[in-house]
Amino acid sequence: MKLSFELNGIEHYLDVEPGEPLLSLLRRLGMKSVKEGCGTGDCGACTVLLNGRAVRSCLMVAPQVQGKRVMTLDGLGTVNDPHPLQEAFLECGAVQCGFCTPGMILVAYELLTRTSDPTPDDVRNAIAGNLCRCTGYVKIVDAVLRAAEWKREGRWR
Ligand code: FES
Ligand code: FES
Repeated sequence: MKLSFELNGIEHYLDVEPGEPLLSLLRRLGMKSVKEGCGTGDCGACTVLLNGRAVRSCLMVAPQVQGKRVMTLDGLGTVNDPHPLQEAFLECGAVQCGFCTPGMILVAYELLTRTSDPTPDDVRNAIAGNLCRCTGYVKIVDAVLRAAEWKREGRWR
C-alpha cells in the first residue's frame, strides 16, 4: 500500500506492507536514533513524536501515520546544530547511552512544549515510561529542568 506522511519536516510517499511496524519503517528510512529495546511497549527506546505526542513506534504499524507528522530525535537538532534541550543534556552529563537517550529527550521535549515551568516530579512523571537499565535518572531530571530554565529565558527556538 502507499503511505504518505511527514518525517522531520519532509514529506514521504512510499510503499509499505500494511503490517510493517512503524519502528522498522523509520529505521529503514535512516532514522537510526529510533531504537528497538523491548519491542513490547515497555522501555521507551523507540519513542517518536506523532503530531507532537510521544508514542512507542514498536507498538504501531506504518499505516497509522498516514497523513500525520512524525518527529524523531534526528528532527530536533544535529551534532553541529543541537537543540537547546540537547545542549542541556550535554551540559548536565545526562547523555548516558545511545539507547535510552533519544526517547528520554523526546518525552522531555513533549513535556516542555506543554509547560516551561515543570516541577522535578513533572519531569520524573514524563520520563517514567522510559527505562534506563544501567545508570540512573538524576542527571536527566537536572537536564530537563535546565532546559526549561533556558526556555523561560527565551533561549529556545
Ligand atoms: Fe518500543 Fe521498548 S522498543 S517500548
Ligand atoms: Fe541508556 Fe542506561 S539504558 S544509560
